[in-house]
Amino acid sequence: MSISPGVPSSSQSPLSSPPPVSPPTTTLPLRTIPGSYGLPLLGPISDRLDYFWFQGPETFLKKRIEKHRSTVFRTNIPPTFPFFSNVNPNVVAVLDTKSFAHLFDMELVDKRDVLVGDFMPSVKFTGDLRVCAYLDTSEPQHSKLKSFAMDILKQSSKTWVSEVVTNLDTMWDDIESTITKSGSASYLVPLQKFIFKFLVKCLVGADPSSSQEIAESGYIMLDRWLALQLLPTVYIGALQPLVEIFLHSWAYPFFLVSGDYNKIYEFVEKEGKEVLQRGETEFGLSRKESIHNLLFVLGFNAFGGFSVFLPSLVSTIVSDTTGLQAKLRKEAREKGGPTLSFDSIKEMPLIQSVVYETLRLNPPVPIQYGRARKDFQLSSHDSVYDIKKGELLCGYQKLVMKDPKIFDEPESFKPERFMNEKGSELLNYLYWSNGPQTGSPTVSNKQCAAKDYVVLTAALFVAYVFRRYDSITGDSSSITAVEKAK
Ligand code: HEM
Repeated sequence: MSISPGVPSSSQSPLSSPPPVSPPTTTLPLRTIPGSYGLPLLGPISDRLDYFWFQGPETFLKKRIEKHRSTVFRTNIPPTFPFFSNVNPNVVAVLDTKSFAHLFDMELVDKRDVLVGDFMPSVKFTGDLRVCAYLDTSEPQHSKLKSFAMDILKQSSKTWVSEVVTNLDTMWDDIESTITKSGSASYLVPLQKFIFKFLVKCLVGADPSSSQEIAESGYIMLDRWLALQLLPTVYIGALQPLVEIFLHSWAYPFFLVSGDYNKIYEFVEKEGKEVLQRGETEFGLSRKESIHNLLFVLGFNAFGGFSVFLPSLVSTIVSDTTGLQAKLRKEAREKGGPTLSFDSIKEMPLIQSVVYETLRLNPPVPIQYGRARKDFQLSSHDSVYDIKKGELLCGYQKLVMKDPKIFDEPESFKPERFMNEKGSELLNYLYWSNGPQTGSPTVSNKQCAAKDYVVLTAALFVAYVFRRYDSITGDSSSITAVEKAK
């Protein structure tokens, strides 16, 4: 296998120019940012209820675009009152591709502690440390920790494909035997087990089965740890008003999952010696910093990201009724040589395009934030707005990725959208990784360190499925039938 970590996978994209953050042009009118934060306490709580309960995030933001006739406006984004008194929910929403792209300009925005907004989960969840994802590029530690993360990926590239394939064999064997026994198989738990196992092998360099407890329950421990950090910010869409009362009203304390966290910490400390050694000798990190950051990359960035992304990819493919599977099957079998590798994936443009289109319509990390470093002028497609130093910009990917000025029929799933020259150009506007798909993660930006690995892994997953099966049927949680390759 060969892979060039950090080199954009978009070898089929001729465009390597930076994304479309353009200085305000004089032709665009200067407009006051519409919208308001409402009355103290009442405004934030009313917005919170609309956002989480009565409308849901997408409708909440869409309605305000219509009301203000602007993709840039002021609003509140929860968590808010009553028990988040130290959190300021006031944001400037940036909801088109042009205004959103300001979030990638590190001269304009500060990313310190804004991973999930003005609310930040307690640092107790990360060993009393601010890990890489919460650091701004101006903090020297960011550079060390991002280099460490990129080095972990580079080292793991030697075994990445074989680990993915081996663990896919196990996962699909299990799913098949469940279908034989029960007529259908839920894929959510098998997917999480697969994700956990291959990531521990690749990122920590350890076999989860060296600890029975980690092998059996490691993925559940990470789920609980993730849930407690993110609950105040996550839309659940059911069981109201219970969700509002019990899940969105306060932050849950770390001690509820400290037992789980400590077990994974000890596992990483014992089994991940080689990676941790590199953290210390090559990146000047303390042992504690190396372990907590490795654990965060493994559990939050990687396991969390794939656990949201892969179910949406599987669901998209298994529920397709348009004949897409036949095309994917043809490409997976005719292209890429006898053994799957990251290079073989690069010969499969349709599979890559399906992965990109899934990321466009279901961006796994739905919101990005950035705080204005200074006063500046922000452009949308049709206006320019004055932003004041300290204001928090908030971009909701799901709407931005349906920008009708960029994407034809933006609501439709078009499997071939990112193919050919026109499709390659659109990669400049695919932002799931907190940067354009044509960009590269570096220590000077906040783009996902694994941008290329994520796309290639997902494409590998699809190619594997269509080398193994002629067809596969199911819905958003289960597989109901598989037809083995003849
Ligand atoms: C489907 C899977 C993934 C998704 C959707 C995803 C998405 C993202 C996003 C959106 C960000 C930027 C967050 C922000 O600052 O607002 C990010 C950052 C990051 N991701 Fe990923 N990611 C995924 C997998 C991974 C994996 C496998 C790694 C393993 C190394 C990784 C490592 C990182 C790191 C270290 C950062 C922080 C970058 C920085 O501070 O400069 N991610 N990711």
